[in-house]
Amino acid sequence: MNPTIGIIGLGYVGLPLALALAEKYTVLGYDNNPQRIAALHKGIDSTQEITSKELQAVNINYFDQSAALKDCSIYIITVPTPLKEDNLPDFSYLESASEVVAKMLKKGDIVVYESTVYPGATEEICLPILELSSLKVDSDFSLGYSPERINVGDPVHTFTNIPKIVSASNQKALATLTHVYQSILSAEVYQAPSIKVAEAAKVIENTQRDVNIAFVNELAMMFNAMGLDTNEVLAAAATKWNFLPFRPGLVGGHCIGIDPYYLAHKSKALGYTPDLLLSARKINEAVPHFIVDDIIDKLNIHQVPILEAKVLLLGATFKENTTDLRNSKAITLAQALKAAGVDLVLYDPLIAMDQTTVELAITNMLPENKKYDAVILAVGHDQFAQMDLLGLLTEKGFGYDIKAYFDIHPRIYRL
Ligand SMILES: NC(=O)c1ccc[n+]([C@@H]2O[C@H](COP(=O)([O-])OP(=O)(O)OC[C@H]3O[C@@H](n4cnc5c(N)ncnc54)[C@H](O)[C@@H]3O)[C@@H](O)[C@H]2O)c1
Repeated sequence: MNPTIGIIGLGYVGLPLALALAEKYTVLGYDNNPQRIAALHKGIDSTQEITSKELQAVNINYFDQSAALKDCSIYIITVPTPLKEDNLPDFSYLESASEVVAKMLKKGDIVVYESTVYPGATEEICLPILELSSLKVDSDFSLGYSPERINVGDPVHTFTNIPKIVSASNQKALATLTHVYQSILSAEVYQAPSIKVAEAAKVIENTQRDVNIAFVNELAMMFNAMGLDTNEVLAAAATKWNFLPFRPGLVGGHCIGIDPYYLAHKSKALGYTPDLLLSARKINEAVPHFIVDDIIDKLNIHQVPILEAKVLLLGATFKENTTDLRNSKAITLAQALKAAGVDLVLYDPLIAMDQTTVELAITNMLPENKKYDAVILAVGHDQFAQMDLLGLLTEKGFGYDIKAYFDIHPRIYRL
Protein backbone atom coordinates (compact mmCIF):
# COMPACT_ATOMS: atom_id res chain seq x y z
CA MET A 1 0.00 0.00 0.00
CA ASN A 2 1.57 3.27 -1.05
CA PRO A 3 -1.01 6.07 -0.90
CA THR A 4 -0.22 9.70 -1.60
CA ILE A 5 -1.65 11.60 1.34
CA GLY A 6 -2.90 15.16 1.27
CA ILE A 7 -3.16 17.13 4.51
CA ILE A 8 -5.55 20.07 4.47
CA GLY A 9 -4.74 22.60 7.22
CA LEU A 10 -1.14 22.70 8.44
CA GLY A 11 -1.53 24.05 11.97
CA TYR A 12 -0.81 22.59 15.40
CA VAL A 13 -2.45 19.30 14.38
CA GLY A 14 -1.86 19.08 10.63
CA LEU A 15 1.86 19.86 10.52
CA PRO A 16 3.10 17.23 13.02
CA LEU A 17 0.80 14.70 11.33
CA ALA A 18 2.22 15.58 7.91
CA LEU A 19 5.78 15.25 9.22
CA ALA A 20 5.08 11.84 10.76
CA LEU A 21 3.34 10.53 7.64
CA ALA A 22 6.10 11.85 5.40
CA GLU A 23 8.53 9.41 7.02
CA LYS A 24 6.63 6.60 5.28
CA TYR A 25 4.48 8.07 2.51
CA THR A 26 4.39 10.77 -0.14
CA VAL A 27 2.74 13.71 1.61
CA LEU A 28 1.40 16.91 0.10
CA GLY A 29 0.44 19.69 2.49
CA TYR A 30 -2.12 22.38 1.69
CA ASP A 31 -3.00 25.41 3.79
CA ASN A 32 -5.12 28.29 2.52
CA ASN A 33 -2.99 30.77 4.47
CA PRO A 34 -0.24 31.74 1.97
CA GLN A 35 1.92 33.21 4.76
CA ARG A 36 1.92 29.89 6.56
CA ILE A 37 3.01 28.13 3.36
CA ALA A 38 5.70 30.76 2.61
CA ALA A 39 7.10 30.27 6.13
CA LEU A 40 7.07 26.46 5.77
CA HIS A 41 8.96 26.77 2.47
CA LYS A 42 11.61 28.68 4.41
CA GLY A 43 11.65 25.94 7.07
CA ILE A 44 9.86 28.04 9.70
CA ASP A 45 6.91 26.86 11.77
CA SER A 46 5.19 30.03 12.94
CA THR A 47 3.56 28.16 15.85
CA GLN A 48 7.15 27.69 17.10
CA GLU A 49 6.42 24.10 18.09
CA ILE A 50 8.56 22.46 15.39
CA THR A 51 12.18 23.39 14.77
CA SER A 52 13.60 24.21 11.34
CA LYS A 53 15.82 21.14 11.66
CA GLU A 54 12.80 18.88 12.20
CA LEU A 55 10.99 20.52 9.30
CA GLN A 56 13.89 20.11 6.93
CA ALA A 57 14.54 16.50 7.93
CA VAL A 58 11.52 15.26 5.95
CA ASN A 59 10.37 15.80 2.44
CA ILE A 60 6.92 17.41 2.16
CA ASN A 61 5.64 19.55 -0.67
CA TYR A 62 3.69 22.53 0.71
CA PHE A 63 1.05 24.33 -1.34
CA ASP A 64 -1.28 27.27 -0.92
CA GLN A 65 -3.28 26.09 -3.95
CA SER A 66 -5.49 23.06 -3.35
CA ALA A 67 -5.38 21.79 -6.96
CA ALA A 68 -1.86 20.51 -6.29
CA LEU A 69 -3.40 17.76 -4.13
CA LYS A 70 -5.61 16.31 -6.87
CA ASP A 71 -3.66 13.03 -7.18
CA CYS A 72 -3.88 12.09 -3.51
CA SER A 73 -5.84 8.99 -2.56
CA ILE A 74 -6.19 9.84 1.13
CA TYR A 75 -7.18 13.34 2.21
CA ILE A 76 -6.85 14.25 5.88
CA ILE A 77 -8.59 17.42 7.03
CA THR A 78 -7.17 19.17 10.10
CA VAL A 79 -8.78 22.61 10.10
CA PRO A 80 -10.02 24.66 13.08
CA THR A 81 -13.40 24.17 14.74
CA PRO A 82 -13.81 27.34 16.81
CA LEU A 83 -16.96 29.02 18.13
CA LYS A 84 -19.12 31.73 16.65
CA GLU A 85 -21.00 34.26 18.73
CA ASP A 86 -23.12 32.83 21.55
CA ASN A 87 -20.76 29.86 21.80
CA LEU A 88 -22.21 28.19 18.71
CA PRO A 89 -20.08 25.81 16.60
CA ASP A 90 -18.36 27.44 13.64
CA PHE A 91 -18.24 24.86 10.84
CA SER A 92 -17.11 27.31 8.17
CA TYR A 93 -13.52 25.93 8.06
CA LEU A 94 -14.71 22.33 7.79
CA GLU A 95 -17.21 23.34 5.13
CA SER A 96 -14.65 25.16 3.00
CA ALA A 97 -12.08 22.34 3.39
CA SER A 98 -14.78 19.83 2.37
CA GLU A 99 -15.59 21.93 -0.71
CA VAL A 100 -11.90 21.89 -1.64
CA VAL A 101 -11.73 18.09 -1.37
CA ALA A 102 -15.07 17.59 -3.16
CA LYS A 103 -13.57 19.24 -6.24
CA MET A 104 -10.72 16.70 -6.32
CA LEU A 105 -12.54 13.59 -5.17
CA LYS A 106 -12.09 10.40 -7.23
CA LYS A 107 -13.38 6.85 -6.97
CA GLY A 108 -11.51 4.90 -4.28
CA ASP A 109 -10.38 7.95 -2.30
CA ILE A 110 -10.66 8.13 1.49
CA VAL A 111 -11.46 11.45 3.20
CA VAL A 112 -10.56 11.58 6.89
CA TYR A 113 -11.50 14.33 9.32
CA GLU A 114 -9.42 14.97 12.44
CA SER A 115 -11.04 18.19 13.67
CA THR A 116 -12.94 18.02 16.96
CA VAL A 117 -16.71 18.13 16.45
CA TYR A 118 -19.90 16.78 18.03
CA PRO A 119 -21.21 13.29 17.27
CA GLY A 120 -22.81 13.30 13.85
CA ALA A 121 -21.11 16.39 12.43
CA THR A 122 -18.83 14.55 9.96
CA GLU A 123 -21.74 12.69 8.38
CA GLU A 124 -24.33 15.47 8.67
CA ILE A 125 -22.24 18.51 7.72
CA CYS A 126 -19.11 17.38 5.84
CA LEU A 127 -20.36 14.34 3.93
CA PRO A 128 -23.15 16.16 2.02
CA ILE A 129 -20.54 18.65 0.77
CA LEU A 130 -18.25 15.82 -0.39
CA GLU A 131 -21.20 14.23 -2.18
CA LEU A 132 -21.74 17.43 -4.19
CA SER A 133 -18.91 15.90 -6.24
CA SER A 134 -21.69 13.51 -7.44
CA LEU A 135 -19.70 10.61 -5.97
CA LYS A 136 -21.42 8.60 -3.22
CA VAL A 137 -19.95 7.49 0.06
CA ASP A 138 -19.01 3.79 0.23
CA SER A 139 -19.94 3.03 -3.35
CA ASP A 140 -17.41 5.57 -4.71
CA PHE A 141 -15.30 6.94 -1.86
CA SER A 142 -14.93 6.37 1.88
CA LEU A 143 -15.29 8.59 4.89
CA GLY A 144 -13.12 8.41 8.00
CA TYR A 145 -12.78 10.20 11.30
CA SER A 146 -9.75 10.04 13.57
CA PRO A 147 -9.65 12.60 16.36
CA GLU A 148 -6.33 14.17 17.26
CA ARG A 149 -5.16 14.07 20.87
CA ILE A 150 -1.85 15.88 20.50
CA ASN A 151 -0.95 17.73 23.71
CA VAL A 152 1.11 20.71 22.60
CA GLY A 153 4.00 21.51 24.97
CA ASP A 154 3.92 18.04 26.59
CA PRO A 155 7.27 16.23 26.19
CA VAL A 156 5.92 12.94 27.61
CA HIS A 157 2.70 12.40 25.64
CA THR A 158 3.83 12.93 22.07
CA PHE A 159 2.18 12.44 18.70
CA THR A 160 3.67 8.96 18.22
CA ASN A 161 3.01 7.53 21.69
CA ILE A 162 -0.61 8.68 22.16
CA PRO A 163 -3.12 5.93 21.24
CA LYS A 164 -5.17 6.98 18.23
CA ILE A 165 -8.85 6.33 17.58
CA VAL A 166 -9.86 5.58 13.99
CA SER A 167 -13.26 5.08 12.46
CA ALA A 168 -14.60 4.81 8.94
CA SER A 169 -17.76 4.41 6.93
CA ASN A 170 -16.79 0.88 5.79
CA GLN A 171 -14.52 -1.96 6.89
CA LYS A 172 -12.10 -1.68 3.97
CA ALA A 173 -11.38 1.98 4.67
CA LEU A 174 -11.13 1.22 8.38
CA ALA A 175 -8.46 -1.41 7.66
CA THR A 176 -6.54 0.98 5.37
CA LEU A 177 -6.63 3.83 7.87
CA THR A 178 -5.67 1.55 10.74
CA HIS A 179 -2.67 0.36 8.72
CA VAL A 180 -1.60 3.89 7.75
CA TYR A 181 -1.90 5.37 11.25
CA GLN A 182 -0.37 2.29 12.91
CA SER A 183 2.64 2.54 10.59
CA ILE A 184 3.59 5.94 12.09
CA LEU A 185 2.70 5.33 15.74
CA SER A 186 4.29 3.34 18.52
CA ALA A 187 0.97 3.46 20.40
CA GLU A 188 -2.16 1.43 19.77
CA VAL A 189 -4.62 2.35 17.03
CA TYR A 190 -8.13 1.81 18.41
CA GLN A 191 -10.92 1.02 15.97
CA ALA A 192 -14.12 2.74 17.08
CA PRO A 193 -17.33 1.00 15.98
CA SER A 194 -18.60 4.09 14.15
CA ILE A 195 -17.66 7.63 13.15
CA LYS A 196 -20.17 9.01 15.68
CA VAL A 197 -18.58 7.02 18.53
CA ALA A 198 -15.13 8.34 17.60
CA GLU A 199 -16.44 11.91 17.44
CA ALA A 200 -18.18 11.52 20.80
CA ALA A 201 -15.11 9.96 22.44
CA LYS A 202 -12.93 12.92 21.53
CA VAL A 203 -15.36 15.58 22.61
CA ILE A 204 -16.03 13.93 25.98
CA GLU A 205 -12.31 13.65 26.75
CA ASN A 206 -12.06 17.43 26.79
CA THR A 207 -15.48 17.87 28.38
CA GLN A 208 -14.51 15.53 31.22
CA ARG A 209 -11.43 17.64 31.94
CA ASP A 210 -13.49 20.80 31.82
CA VAL A 211 -16.03 19.44 34.33
CA ASN A 212 -13.34 18.13 36.69
CA ILE A 213 -11.38 21.37 36.63
CA ALA A 214 -14.60 23.35 37.16
CA PHE A 215 -15.22 21.33 40.31
CA VAL A 216 -11.81 22.21 41.80
CA ASN A 217 -12.20 25.81 40.66
CA GLU A 218 -15.50 25.94 42.52
CA LEU A 219 -13.76 24.43 45.56
CA ALA A 220 -11.07 27.14 45.27
CA MET A 221 -13.72 29.86 45.29
CA MET A 222 -15.45 28.30 48.31
CA PHE A 223 -12.25 27.61 50.27
CA ASN A 224 -11.03 31.12 49.54
CA ALA A 225 -14.08 32.44 51.43
CA MET A 226 -13.42 29.92 54.21
CA GLY A 227 -9.77 30.95 54.54
CA LEU A 228 -8.51 27.52 53.46
CA ASP A 229 -5.65 26.83 51.04
CA THR A 230 -7.28 24.69 48.32
CA ASN A 231 -4.01 23.02 47.39
CA GLU A 232 -3.47 21.89 50.98
CA VAL A 233 -6.98 20.44 51.00
CA LEU A 234 -6.40 18.71 47.64
CA ALA A 235 -3.06 17.27 48.80
CA ALA A 236 -4.73 15.82 51.90
CA ALA A 237 -7.70 14.43 49.92
CA ALA A 238 -5.36 12.93 47.30
CA THR A 239 -4.08 10.44 49.88
CA LYS A 240 -7.29 8.49 49.16
CA TRP A 241 -6.72 6.05 46.30
CA ASN A 242 -9.65 7.16 44.17
CA PHE A 243 -9.46 10.94 44.60
CA LEU A 244 -8.79 12.52 41.20
CA PRO A 245 -5.79 14.87 41.09
CA PHE A 246 -7.23 17.95 39.36
CA ARG A 247 -5.96 21.44 40.21
CA PRO A 248 -7.66 24.82 40.04
CA GLY A 249 -6.68 27.21 37.28
CA LEU A 250 -7.53 29.08 34.12
CA VAL A 251 -9.25 27.03 31.40
CA GLY A 252 -8.70 28.49 27.95
CA GLY A 253 -7.30 27.37 24.62
CA HIS A 254 -8.96 25.94 21.56
CA CYS A 255 -10.02 22.58 23.03
CA ILE A 256 -11.18 22.30 26.65
CA GLY A 257 -12.82 25.71 26.71
CA ILE A 258 -14.48 25.21 23.30
CA ASP A 259 -15.37 21.57 22.65
CA PRO A 260 -17.99 21.19 25.44
CA TYR A 261 -20.04 23.88 23.69
CA TYR A 262 -20.10 21.70 20.55
CA LEU A 263 -21.47 18.77 22.54
CA ALA A 264 -23.98 20.98 24.37
CA HIS A 265 -25.16 22.49 21.09
CA LYS A 266 -25.93 19.09 19.57
CA SER A 267 -27.59 17.87 22.74
CA LYS A 268 -29.76 20.99 23.07
CA ALA A 269 -30.79 20.68 19.42
CA LEU A 270 -32.05 17.19 20.26
CA GLY A 271 -33.99 18.45 23.27
CA TYR A 272 -31.67 17.73 26.22
CA THR A 273 -29.90 20.62 27.96
CA PRO A 274 -26.74 19.32 29.66
CA ASP A 275 -26.82 21.29 32.94
CA LEU A 276 -23.63 19.94 34.51
CA LEU A 277 -21.57 20.55 31.39
CA LEU A 278 -22.87 24.10 30.96
CA SER A 279 -22.43 24.92 34.67
CA ALA A 280 -18.82 23.73 34.42
CA ARG A 281 -18.28 26.05 31.46
CA LYS A 282 -19.81 28.93 33.40
CA ILE A 283 -17.61 28.31 36.44
CA ASN A 284 -14.41 28.06 34.41
CA GLU A 285 -15.27 31.19 32.42
CA ALA A 286 -15.80 33.04 35.73
CA VAL A 287 -12.35 32.21 37.15
CA PRO A 288 -10.42 35.19 35.66
CA HIS A 289 -13.05 37.57 37.06
CA PHE A 290 -12.97 35.87 40.45
CA ILE A 291 -9.17 36.30 40.51
CA VAL A 292 -9.40 40.00 39.62
CA ASP A 293 -11.88 40.59 42.47
CA ASP A 294 -9.60 38.66 44.81
CA ILE A 295 -6.53 40.67 43.75
CA ILE A 296 -8.45 43.91 44.32
CA ASP A 297 -9.45 42.71 47.81
CA LYS A 298 -5.84 41.83 48.57
CA LEU A 299 -4.53 45.18 47.27
CA ASN A 300 -6.98 46.79 49.69
CA ILE A 301 -5.78 44.60 52.55
CA HIS A 302 -2.17 45.53 51.69
CA GLN A 303 -3.19 49.20 51.56
CA VAL A 304 -2.21 49.67 47.92
CA PRO A 305 -4.64 52.01 46.09
CA ILE A 306 -5.88 50.14 43.01
CA LEU A 307 -5.15 53.00 40.63
CA GLU A 308 -1.55 53.15 41.86
CA ALA A 309 -0.96 49.40 41.93
CA LYS A 310 1.88 48.01 39.84
CA VAL A 311 1.02 44.46 38.87
CA LEU A 312 3.10 41.84 37.06
CA LEU A 313 1.30 38.95 35.37
CA LEU A 314 3.55 35.97 34.62
CA GLY A 315 2.44 34.06 31.51
CA ALA A 316 0.14 34.96 28.64
CA THR A 317 -0.43 31.65 26.85
CA PHE A 318 -3.41 29.37 27.42
CA LYS A 319 -1.24 26.73 29.04
CA GLU A 320 2.26 26.04 30.28
CA ASN A 321 5.33 25.64 28.06
CA THR A 322 3.59 26.55 24.81
CA THR A 323 3.47 29.70 22.72
CA ASP A 324 -0.23 29.30 21.92
CA LEU A 325 -2.28 32.40 22.81
CA ARG A 326 -5.62 31.22 21.41
CA ASN A 327 -8.51 31.85 23.81
CA SER A 328 -6.00 32.42 26.61
CA LYS A 329 -7.67 33.25 29.92
CA ALA A 330 -4.39 34.83 31.08
CA ILE A 331 -5.15 37.48 28.44
CA THR A 332 -8.73 37.79 29.76
CA LEU A 333 -7.25 38.21 33.25
CA ALA A 334 -4.80 40.87 31.98
CA GLN A 335 -7.58 42.80 30.27
CA ALA A 336 -9.80 42.69 33.36
CA LEU A 337 -6.93 43.87 35.57
CA LYS A 338 -6.24 46.77 33.20
CA ALA A 339 -9.93 47.64 33.17
CA ALA A 340 -9.79 47.77 36.98
CA GLY A 341 -7.14 50.47 36.60
CA VAL A 342 -3.88 48.82 37.66
CA ASP A 343 -0.56 49.46 35.93
CA LEU A 344 0.06 46.04 34.37
CA VAL A 345 3.09 44.30 32.90
CA LEU A 346 2.16 41.09 31.07
CA TYR A 347 5.35 39.05 30.78
CA ASP A 348 5.78 35.86 28.79
CA PRO A 349 9.35 34.84 27.95
CA LEU A 350 8.20 32.20 25.43
CA ILE A 351 6.38 34.62 23.16
CA ALA A 352 8.10 36.08 20.11
CA MET A 353 7.18 39.70 19.55
CA ASP A 354 4.98 40.40 16.55
CA GLN A 355 2.02 42.60 15.72
CA THR A 356 -0.45 40.47 17.71
CA THR A 357 1.68 40.31 20.83
CA VAL A 358 2.32 44.05 20.67
CA GLU A 359 -1.43 44.68 20.37
CA LEU A 360 -2.00 42.44 23.41
CA ALA A 361 0.74 44.40 25.28
CA ILE A 362 2.74 41.24 26.00
CA THR A 363 6.44 41.67 26.67
CA ASN A 364 9.07 38.92 26.57
CA MET A 365 11.58 41.09 28.46
CA LEU A 366 11.09 41.66 32.17
CA PRO A 367 11.68 45.35 32.94
CA GLU A 368 14.91 45.66 34.97
CA ASN A 369 14.82 46.58 38.65
CA LYS A 370 11.08 47.16 38.69
CA LYS A 371 9.13 46.11 41.82
CA TYR A 372 5.46 45.21 41.93
CA ASP A 373 2.63 45.44 44.44
CA ALA A 374 1.26 42.17 43.11
CA VAL A 375 2.97 39.44 41.08
CA ILE A 376 0.49 36.94 39.67
CA LEU A 377 1.70 33.60 38.34
CA ALA A 378 -0.97 32.78 35.74
CA VAL A 379 0.74 30.15 33.56
CA GLY A 380 3.03 27.40 34.82
CA HIS A 381 5.92 27.76 32.35
CA ASP A 382 8.89 25.74 33.70
CA GLN A 383 10.99 28.88 33.48
CA PHE A 384 8.94 30.64 36.17
CA ALA A 385 9.90 28.05 38.79
CA GLN A 386 13.41 29.57 38.81
CA MET A 387 12.16 33.10 39.50
CA ASP A 388 12.69 34.95 42.75
CA LEU A 389 9.07 35.97 43.14
CA LEU A 390 9.57 37.57 46.55
CA GLY A 391 12.48 39.63 45.17
CA LEU A 392 10.07 41.28 42.71
CA LEU A 393 7.75 42.62 45.40
CA THR A 394 7.51 46.14 46.81
CA GLU A 395 7.47 46.46 50.59
CA LYS A 396 3.67 46.12 50.67
CA GLY A 397 3.60 43.71 47.74
CA PHE A 398 2.30 40.14 47.56
CA GLY A 399 2.42 37.19 45.22
CA TYR A 400 -0.65 35.41 43.82
CA ASP A 401 0.19 31.91 42.74
CA ILE A 402 -2.55 30.44 40.54
CA LYS A 403 -0.56 27.29 39.77
CA ALA A 404 0.71 26.53 43.32
CA TYR A 405 4.24 26.78 41.93
CA PHE A 406 5.86 28.44 44.92
CA ASP A 407 6.21 27.24 48.49
CA ILE A 408 3.66 28.43 51.00
CA HIS A 409 4.71 31.84 52.30
CA PRO A 410 2.87 34.58 54.23
CA ARG A 411 3.33 36.98 51.29
CA ILE A 412 2.19 34.53 48.62
CA TYR A 413 -1.51 33.76 48.18
CA ARG A 414 -2.83 30.88 46.14
CA LEU A 415 -6.00 30.52 44.12
N1 LIG B 1 -3.99 22.21 18.77
C1 LIG B 1 -4.24 21.13 19.49
O1 LIG B 1 -3.53 20.86 20.47
C2 LIG B 1 -5.39 20.20 19.15
C3 LIG B 1 -5.44 18.96 19.77
C4 LIG B 1 -6.45 18.07 19.43
C5 LIG B 1 -7.41 18.44 18.50
N2 LIG B 1 -7.38 19.68 17.92
C6 LIG B 1 -8.41 20.00 16.93
O2 LIG B 1 -7.80 19.91 15.64
C7 LIG B 1 -8.38 20.89 14.76
C8 LIG B 1 -7.30 21.77 14.19
O3 LIG B 1 -6.73 22.51 15.24
P1 LIG B 1 -5.32 23.24 15.13
O4 LIG B 1 -4.96 23.60 16.53
O5 LIG B 1 -4.36 22.44 14.32
O6 LIG B 1 -5.73 24.54 14.31
P2 LIG B 1 -4.73 25.64 13.68
O7 LIG B 1 -5.47 26.91 13.66
O8 LIG B 1 -3.40 25.55 14.36
O9 LIG B 1 -4.49 25.12 12.20
C9 LIG B 1 -5.45 25.03 11.24
C10 LIG B 1 -4.81 25.38 9.90
O10 LIG B 1 -5.82 25.16 8.92
C11 LIG B 1 -5.72 26.19 7.95
N3 LIG B 1 -7.02 26.26 7.26
C12 LIG B 1 -8.20 26.75 7.69
N4 LIG B 1 -9.16 26.57 6.78
C13 LIG B 1 -8.59 25.93 5.74
C14 LIG B 1 -9.05 25.48 4.47
N5 LIG B 1 -10.33 25.62 4.12
N6 LIG B 1 -8.18 24.88 3.65
C15 LIG B 1 -6.89 24.72 4.01
N7 LIG B 1 -6.38 25.14 5.17
C16 LIG B 1 -7.22 25.73 6.04
C17 LIG B 1 -5.35 27.42 8.74
O11 LIG B 1 -4.74 28.41 7.93
C18 LIG B 1 -4.39 26.84 9.79
O12 LIG B 1 -3.04 26.90 9.38
C19 LIG B 1 -9.44 21.61 15.59
O13 LIG B 1 -10.67 20.97 15.41
C20 LIG B 1 -8.95 21.40 17.01
O14 LIG B 1 -10.01 21.48 17.94
C21 LIG B 1 -6.37 20.55 18.22
